[in-house]
Amino acid sequence: MEMLNTEMLRMMRDPLGAPLHPTLIQVLLVATFVLHIFFVTLALGAASFALWAFLRGNEWQRRLARVAARLAPNAVGLGVVTGIAPLLFVQTIYDPLWYAANTLTGFWSTLFIFVVMGGYSMAYLFYLKGSPQGRLLWASGLSIALILLAGWIMHVLANTQLYPEYWREWYAPNLEPDTRGVVFHAYNLPRVAFLLLVSSVLSLGVTLMLFAWYFRQRDDADYEYLTQVGNLGKRLALVSAPLLWITGIAWSFTQGIQFGLHIVMALAFTFIALLIREGFRHLDPLTGGVRALGFWLLSLLGIGVIRETIRATSVARYGYRVADYPFVWDWASVLVFALTTVVGVAVIAYLVLVLYDSGKGEVRPWAEKLGRVSIGMLGAWLALFILLGVRLYL
Ligand code: HEM
Repeated sequence: MEMLNTEMLRMMRDPLGAPLHPTLIQVLLVATFVLHIFFVTLALGAASFALWAFLRGNEWQRRLARVAARLAPNAVGLGVVTGIAPLLFVQTIYDPLWYAANTLTGFWSTLFIFVVMGGYSMAYLFYLKGSPQGRLLWASGLSIALILLAGWIMHVLANTQLYPEYWREWYAPNLEPDTRGVVFHAYNLPRVAFLLLVSSVLSLGVTLMLFAWYFRQRDDADYEYLTQVGNLGKRLALVSAPLLWITGIAWSFTQGIQFGLHIVMALAFTFIALLIREGFRHLDPLTGGVRALGFWLLSLLGIGVIRETIRATSVARYGYRVADYPFVWDWASVLVFALTTVVGVAVIAYLVLVLYDSGKGEVRPWAEKLGRVSIGMLGAWLALFILLGVRLYL
């Protein structure tokens, strides 16, 4: 049976091979996943806070809830954009796993995009028309439920990949094919609590601290309000540290132990929980936002590496190693990829700079120049893109 699984995984790989060195793709997969998980958990945290504060909050909390309601759809949008990157990478080096998981859970993976669209639309509707008097609170509740469902589907897809030994049984229980794809075959509750629920409190906490850090620089800064916001952010992060530890330990001794990774995982999660507790304890709620973000992104990187180690260890049982994935340097696609990254980063840097500066009052003069250059590059990139398409078509 083990031989069969080994053969199955090997045969299901793309015969054309990967277009870059597979280890490089694996690094990019983990790096982009960090951004993805940050934004989706922020969306969940912001939407939940907005609903809670509209229902139960006091005056300053409701004021903040308006901002959170506005942040939620934006964070979903960023979560979607930053989800596409790991999606492309995972399909390239783990295609046997990804497609098997998507097929086995076909009903939900097809529904997924509509779930995300619904979650976004409801969050947007609530931001646009919701009110503390109770108008459209249902839309907020629905958006939270849909974001949670999207996270759950992602979680099941990620977990189904870890157990190739069960795929045939899941596909055809008692040799009777089940093509509905409605069953959630593999999940781990501590993992989803860790990655989705506890992380959403931390992502929200960090963002509140960033909010206080950013707006304190304005001339008309309301220090009392900002201190309250920063303090709340810090408190949320500090409360999350032990929860992160508990769910992390539970994840280690349920899923981790199956792959012999429990000790490493337990140590890593203990370190991360301590880093957050000790790191945040000394942060000033008004000025510590950037360092808070640094601590959290660093922790998420560690968490991303652990996630990847679980997958790599699972498939190594069947001789599947990312480093051995066949590849040919496809220089044309590497070039397009690199150009797109340069142009994309320049445009985004310009937008972020203008947004950042205008919130503080004055846009720095060289931002305009960057804007002109980046828009010019975007034009050139589009022209190249169309020309390439026409050339390939003819
Ligand atoms: C609001 C919607 C979403 C939520 C709440 C969400 C949440 C999550 C969570 C919790 C995980 C980690 C699962 C685990 O390891 O147990 C994950 C992984 C992932 N998500 Fe999302 N996600 C959302 C939308 C998207 C979208 C729209 C895309 C793609 C366009 C996407 C692509 C991915 C990918 C590629 C992974 C990694 C899969 C892997 O490494 O095997 N996500 N997401």
